[in-house]
Amino acid sequence: MTYKELYKDIKKLGDDDAAYCRYLLDRSLPELRQDESGVPEDTAAKHAECVKRLRDGEPLQYIFGYAPFYDTELYCGPGVLIPRFDTEILVEEAIKTLPQNAYFADLCCGTGCIAAAVLKHRPDTAALCLDISDTALSYTERNLGKYGLTDRAEIRKFDVFSSWDSLPPLDAILCNPPYINEKDMERLPENVKREPFEALYGGKDGLDFYRRVLSASKGRFRRGTRIIFEIGYDQAAALKELCPGCEIKKDYSSNDRICIIRGSE
Ligand SMILES: C[S@@+](CC[C@H](N)C(=O)[O-])C[C@H]1O[C@@H](n2cnc3c(N)ncnc32)[C@H](O)[C@@H]1O
Repeated sequence: MTYKELYKDIKKLGDDDAAYCRYLLDRSLPELRQDESGVPEDTAAKHAECVKRLRDGEPLQYIFGYAPFYDTELYCGPGVLIPRFDTEILVEEAIKTLPQNAYFADLCCGTGCIAAAVLKHRPDTAALCLDISDTALSYTERNLGKYGLTDRAEIRKFDVFSSWDSLPPLDAILCNPPYINEKDMERLPENVKREPFEALYGGKDGLDFYRRVLSASKGRFRRGTRIIFEIGYDQAAALKELCPGCEIKKDYSSNDRICIIRGSE
């Protein structure tokens, strides 16, 4: 196989082409375009293996073992949700608005992407990272470690539906919970189905976690309540109903994406 042929193969990946090229080679994609020389055997073999895994429906980020998020690059792999661009608006809001020296929970932390980005940009804050999944917690530990943030974070196994009595008082909860409803779960693309069911499924109507967090967090905050939820693009009306005083903000694709709950609401 020549580099020119490899270039054509990689271009078929669409938006992910440059990232894939970086994973495979120490060269930029445009450099390969007219290069008729042969690709080393080990690189060609690595490429063939990746193509096979992609054809089997494996997400590209699981193959790489990392995913970009905000201004970080985080470890991820089978057993944990791949951090999404959609979640960056929640991080941005938290960085801008968390009170000074805030102690916040990254509830349903997954890879720890929210805590990692917020702690990195707000050195005055500290985090409690909570998730039910041991795999997720181990990724959170690795990702916070990668950016030297573990001294400002506690990582704890926690079930949102269990008692909240063991949690310390908090200034804020940042939470991207599972929020896909029963119907939409059936229509998920093959590569998304490779992500953990428990990271996606939010109950029959997709709202189980919002209801639970809203009721269980009442009276548990040190200062004025501040919950920032990520929500599905079509869940704003439902959240307004659950929490009439909340504010909905859109993401960079103009979809409703976060729900902010302030004060004593
Ligand atoms: C949508 S993912 C969000 C992960 C990460 N915060 C992000 O934005 O990429 C939801 C996470 O909730 C966790 N989870 C599911 N059920 C839970 C429960 N009952 N209690 C705590 N965490 C739970 C999953 O393990 C998963 O990591």
